[in-house]
Amino acid sequence: MRRFLIDTDTASDDAVALVMALRHPDVIVEALTIVCGNVGLDQAVQNALYTVELCGSDVTVHPGARQPLMRTLETAQNVHGEDGMGDCGLELSGRSHAGGRGADVIVDTILGAPGEITLVALGPLTNIAVAYLRAPEIAEAVERVVVMGGTGVHGPGNVSPMAEFNFWADPEAAAIVVESGMPLELVGWDISIENAVVTQERHDTIRALDTPLSAFALSIAQVVRRFALGIGLAGDDLPDPIAMAHAIDPSAAETTRLHVGVMVGDGPQRGVMEVDRFGFSGKEPNLDIVTRYSSDNFFGLLMDSLG
Ligand code: RIB
Ligand code: CA
Repeated sequence: MRRFLIDTDTASDDAVALVMALRHPDVIVEALTIVCGNVGLDQAVQNALYTVELCGSDVTVHPGARQPLMRTLETAQNVHGEDGMGDCGLELSGRSHAGGRGADVIVDTILGAPGEITLVALGPLTNIAVAYLRAPEIAEAVERVVVMGGTGVHGPGNVSPMAEFNFWADPEAAAIVVESGMPLELVGWDISIENAVVTQERHDTIRALDTPLSAFALSIAQVVRRFALGIGLAGDDLPDPIAMAHAIDPSAAETTRLHVGVMVGDGPQRGVMEVDRFGFSGKEPNLDIVTRYSSDNFFGLLMDSLG
């Protein structure tokens, strides 16, 4: 059994990734920590609680950062909908979280089980950065840190021409985390748009499952699907779910090890990854970056979770 700790800014694709982990027979989800990002913290907490209840899980949900480290929050509600879950009329309020503080839960969970926890980061890295600053020893104690973030080795941005949302929303946190020494495995937006696009054929296959979870997955994606089609993709892409697939089954990934930095500031460089493919920075590689993930393997895991 794999022990996952998941940090999320719960919106539509995060919710599908949560379903994949909560429903996988070989995964124990220790806790969910919530970070502001796609939507504000309180909405992300409610979205996570709704998804956990839908999966019949008793995993605890803990609120984390309400703002990025050094900035005011700029959400992605234009992409996912006002409630982050496709504005499809779900009752996303009134549930109670487990309290605590996300960064403390991350530290306590990792230090409480050295070498056993896979931390999966699906949103801006604010909680992870705060946890590391409070207890740098988590870098040695955590088994794996799978991050959905950045544009990958060759990808475009999705919030600016060169920046991906999770790194752009809190670039200072991302810059701290990539230099933390944690065993990072980065799954960028390039992998999502290349290997995790819900084409019309795949959309119809998911709909044909005709289960509560397949209907949920399609409904909450209705706003992001319009956004994705509008920018020329063949359907909505699923960045957090394919990052979760990599966490569950890394054997289907091709990776390369290199040094990555993250640019800060407020200009076009905000949140942009410096990918040192040829070692010109003179810095030691600091992470593994996924360069390809089997689309068939991903959609197989997805369909199993929604069935
Ligand atoms: O850029 C994609 C990432 O930003 C995903 O995690 C999505 O949920 C948003 O948080
Ligand atoms: Ca996310």
